[in-house]
Amino acid sequence: MTRDNGRIKGVNTRLAHSGHDPHGFHGFVNPPVVHASTVLYPNAATMAARAQKYTYGTRGTPTTDALCAAIDELEGSAGTIAVPSGLAAVTIPLLGFLSAGDHILITDSVYHPTRHFADTMLKRLGVEVDYYDPHVGAGIAALIKPNTKVVLTESPASNTFEIQDIPAISKAAHAAGAIVMMDNTWATPLYFKALDFGVDVTIHAATKYPAGHSDVLSGTVSANADCWPRLREAFFTLGCCAGPDDVYQVLRGLRTMGVRLAHHEKSALDIARWLEGQPGVARVLHPGLESHPDHELFKRDFGGSSGIFSAVLSGGGQNKAHAFLDALEIFGLGYSWGGFESLAVPVNLSDRKVVTPYEGPIIRLQIGLEDVADLKEDIAAGLQAANAAE
Ligand SMILES: Cc1ncc(COP(=O)(O)O)c(C=O)c1O
Repeated sequence: MTRDNGRIKGVNTRLAHSGHDPHGFHGFVNPPVVHASTVLYPNAATMAARAQKYTYGTRGTPTTDALCAAIDELEGSAGTIAVPSGLAAVTIPLLGFLSAGDHILITDSVYHPTRHFADTMLKRLGVEVDYYDPHVGAGIAALIKPNTKVVLTESPASNTFEIQDIPAISKAAHAAGAIVMMDNTWATPLYFKALDFGVDVTIHAATKYPAGHSDVLSGTVSANADCWPRLREAFFTLGCCAGPDDVYQVLRGLRTMGVRLAHHEKSALDIARWLEGQPGVARVLHPGLESHPDHELFKRDFGGSSGIFSAVLSGGGQNKAHAFLDALEIFGLGYSWGGFESLAVPVNLSDRKVVTPYEGPIIRLQIGLEDVADLKEDIAAGLQAANAAE
């Protein structure tokens, strides 16, 4: 697209066209899926100098370039890497930016496998790991040590959906010479443009909304200009590149992510509001609700909300949670989220160090693209079963 009148195009226009110029590849609307290890060089001198755009399959192809360019456009980042899962999108930058003797601060509300990685592999490699209260805000300054190199945030919190004051955390981290990474999977760059709020490295489980169909595992990591060379170097060093078919599927999913997210957002908010008034529900943990304690912070920083939130049942324990889950017919019982179908999981907070009291068991709901009336009917049946259980 050549017209440039200075106006930034709407997000759905950008999602539809970013990353690939059809006229750069015979007019085909989608980029080619390049399956590659070996790339040939025309002569020895070019080979010695590696003086061509593509040098080996692990270092990028026209397919990965198309996805990474599209993500860069959304994030406003200097560079993006495509990796084989969301968890790899967390572990690769941590391995790239931390060394023995360094200290990392991680939000206590982090995605559990991230905590597992930090508590096992990072500690074994000699990295000091501490967790902070997601509501810490500027108070994080008091937790930063001379050897703190990375602050790893995730907002909203996994499963409990607290919102963090990312600008305040970033300001304190930068003042002490640490960088800020953020798992921004929930909001996607459409609803939270992390680099604009002081984040240096932004992480996405592209498995969720970008891929969107529960059939691909993928991750992306994007960095600002200062952090990009080190992130790229870590990516090349680890050789942890995504396969071309998965990369293609994520780019395909990205084209419709805006319209899917808008539908997820509308349905999830409708159901969350309705759930607040249902018998047997103590609280709904959705930052887009006016009743959420962090709603003002959410409104200040986020452009929208996605389709996953939690409901706290009033009283009871595992029996009640299981009765709810077993009565569901449309919601599947399964991990992950961001796909077209609704899912429910019981929330386990036993790994948390910052303990918050909840009235009863917590159920996480991923609201898919089904019709809201059908989803409400399913949840109502679950609540009826839960309320009848001890
Ligand atoms: C916040 C968050 N980050 C990362 C991941 C990991 O993504 P993947 O399942 O692709 O490894 C998940 C998966 O549920 C997640 O919820």
